[in-house]
Amino acid sequence: MLVVYNGKSVLYQAPVMDRSTPAFFTDRVYGELWVGPRPSLEWTQALLGVETRPLEELDKLSGKARVVRGHDPRVEGLFETDEEADAELTQFLSELRLVKDEHEVAQLQDAVDATVKGFEDVVRQLDRAKETSERWVEGVFGLRARVEGNDVGYGSICAAGAHACTLHWTDNDGPVRDGDLALLDMGVENHELYTADVTRTLPISGTFSPRQRQVYDLVFQAQEAGIAACRAGADFLDPHRAAMQVLAHGLVELGVLEDAEAALAEDQQLYRRYTLHGVSHMLGNDVHDCAHARSEVYRKGPLQPGYVLTVEPGLYFQPDDLTVPEDLRGIGVRIEDDIVVTDGDPINLSAALPRDADGVEAWMAGLLP
Ligand code: GLY
Ligand code: MN
Ligand code: MN
Repeated sequence: MLVVYNGKSVLYQAPVMDRSTPAFFTDRVYGELWVGPRPSLEWTQALLGVETRPLEELDKLSGKARVVRGHDPRVEGLFETDEEADAELTQFLSELRLVKDEHEVAQLQDAVDATVKGFEDVVRQLDRAKETSERWVEGVFGLRARVEGNDVGYGSICAAGAHACTLHWTDNDGPVRDGDLALLDMGVENHELYTADVTRTLPISGTFSPRQRQVYDLVFQAQEAGIAACRAGADFLDPHRAAMQVLAHGLVELGVLEDAEAALAEDQQLYRRYTLHGVSHMLGNDVHDCAHARSEVYRKGPLQPGYVLTVEPGLYFQPDDLTVPEDLRGIGVRIEDDIVVTDGDPINLSAALPRDADGVEAWMAGLLP
């Protein structure tokens, strides 16, 4: 636990519990018999440049403090706290994380690089997924995440066929069949716990059908518009607005909507039946980073250099939706990339994975067994 007071920081950490103490045997959380060697206080102090003290000394502290709640009830009980002041601290910490420094962007790139390898692994093993289920995809990606990083950053969404229309499909127990699309939303969390958040929608056979390609191209165009809007000084919501403009007009061409401008009207927003979610969120240590930041500085604020956010438009035609042409029902497409806002052009950290339909097919052709 990190305690900050009067400009000084102290990190309270459980000490090493090696054979010199009975806790070696008895402490299931920290004892080395149970969990193996852990860093010493000296090691952590040298690593982080922060004074460290043994965890049990926490009990000597008392008085008024602000606490980040929801982690340790013992700490919450130690101090005189105030709910509003605590919420303000959590909000402040979230806002501190909005702008990523160079080190953090490099960490996110590291997480994305491992994620790219995970996607490649999955395509190489699509034949095994066809013999089994979506779980093969989840497992293959999870292997890469554990070997290259700490773990997956969030439950992998491995959605073949109409499962793509279920936004948080994590059961991943369905069949993987030629002719269907697979929407794969997966991200490696690296060793410093920064996570990638990437989605590709792949034709399982390696080739899009004409109708699938039409939907895919539209989502791709929407994503292009969204990424182009990621410029410092623009509204955080501008990438969303740009993507929705493209999707609404494209939905007319697909025969889903009749009038794009009418559908886009503030009091109508008919396109939302098929687009379902916002296009961006912050990315960092959490997949939905900075979630406690005030709306006026995050969702309703301007984009700033150093922001890292996703751009992830999608179209989802539910299998039982009678408002869409029959041949579109059950198709779900999302494309999601991790974008750094700069003083100039946006940088796509996940550019190594092709996004356009031709690029996806060519990339898959080089990997499919
Ligand atoms: N993977 C969760 C999200 O895209 O927000
Ligand atoms: Mn996302
Ligand atoms: Mn995602």
